Amino acid sequence: MLALNEKYLAGIISEEEILAHSPYADLAWSELAEGSSPGSDFLGWLNLPQNFDPALLREIKEAAERIKKQSEVLVNIGIGGSYLGAKAVYEALKDPFKARQDDGVELLFAGQNLSGKYLESLIEYLRDKDFSLNVISKSGTTTEPAIAFRILRALLVEKYGEDALRERIICTTDKSRGALKAYADNLDLTCFVVPDDVGGRYSVLTPVGLLPLAAAGFDIQKLLEGAHKALLNLQGTKLKSNPAYRYAVIRNCLYKRGYVAESLVTFEPELSFFAEWWKQLFGESEGKDGKALLPTSMQFTRDLHSLGQFVQEGRKCLFETCLVIDEQQQLALIPESEDDGDGLNYLAGRALPEVNAIARRATLMAHREGAVPVLEISLKRLDEEHLGYLIYFFELACAMSARLLGVNPFDQPGVEAYKLNMFALLGKPGYEERRAELNREAADQS
Ligand code: PA5
Repeated sequence: MLALNEKYLAGIISEEEILAHSPYADLAWSELAEGSSPGSDFLGWLNLPQNFDPALLREIKEAAERIKKQSEVLVNIGIGGSYLGAKAVYEALKDPFKARQDDGVELLFAGQNLSGKYLESLIEYLRDKDFSLNVISKSGTTTEPAIAFRILRALLVEKYGEDALRERIICTTDKSRGALKAYADNLDLTCFVVPDDVGGRYSVLTPVGLLPLAAAGFDIQKLLEGAHKALLNLQGTKLKSNPAYRYAVIRNCLYKRGYVAESLVTFEPELSFFAEWWKQLFGESEGKDGKALLPTSMQFTRDLHSLGQFVQEGRKCLFETCLVIDEQQQLALIPESEDDGDGLNYLAGRALPEVNAIARRATLMAHREGAVPVLEISLKRLDEEHLGYLIYFFELACAMSARLLGVNPFDQPGVEAYKLNMFALLGKPGYEERRAELNREAADQS
């Protein structure tokens, strides 16, 4: 279902160098398997696709059916891991020019920014639509989604009345803690649980991602099946034949050689948001203790006309991991033209996926010649099952890579710093001391 192509690394990293990491990969895996790695309270994702509770899957599907009957739009309110997974899969699988699948609602997202324009425009869009709200926050206390929920809830009540709170809101949160859980219990709202042992960025295969995707008309069972196949193929297999471990080792080898940034590149625009999910996964899992690769992304061929110059001839600090989809359904044939004014008749009759594949080969060869290490990860096709496989592949590779780097893959202490300052500057009770400190700093600087 998935292959790691290392051919462009020839002359940069040898098989011996990769296999020299076998003892470290074995150790990293046994720590994960035994639950002895740092952050081992958050290893629930590791066997999740294998142990998925059929009753929960049924409940999710039933809730999705209720949403579909009631609404044209489901607004998913969440940030970080509470929205990126669903958005990534949704964008990858939906028709880019249709608001919704034939058998599903349109998914919209809120609470992932603090933009007044975004929220006001969303409110306008929702005025003549039937909509429901799906609020997702593991902690139940994150400010951005909490604000969006308050504002959109008011719209819901204005449009449908107080009863709509119970009929049209679903909460996905901690099983017992947090303000969102208290609110949901108080009103007896439909609730799904983010398991205690699954962190936000590892939560797409829990109700966090599965409920919106089911409501949007996608086959969540297939998503889980794909992840399960990855689990069976990848867990514990030796480094030599394990693409997830090899990917983890290779990126660490490149990092040690001064390639401090990795760009996930794709020639398929529908994968752009998958790259956003991947950035969070690796950025939050590895970026600590002054270490880690900077996870970035580019969409080709578009960005060849902007960042391509930097990649080809700029500072040699970046390597590329190219995400490839082998089989393409939509061909978009190039027609013959009588006058051939644009000189494209040499391409007449050829399909865009073929031209795109050649553009990819040409680009990766050029970048390789420009001393940029390149890896390819190819998926046979783009559907729920293959995406499930890819998600699990990256989750496992990320945990392994973080352990090879020597950091805890499952915490994110750095995310708190901006929150502390924001609360202080907004005047949240309890943050007065920090506010005074920040004011003193600002006075010193001016
Ligand atoms: O991966 C993570 O844990 C974070 O990115 C969280 O998903 C994000 O901060 C949102 O947190 P919460 O779901 O608690 O609102």
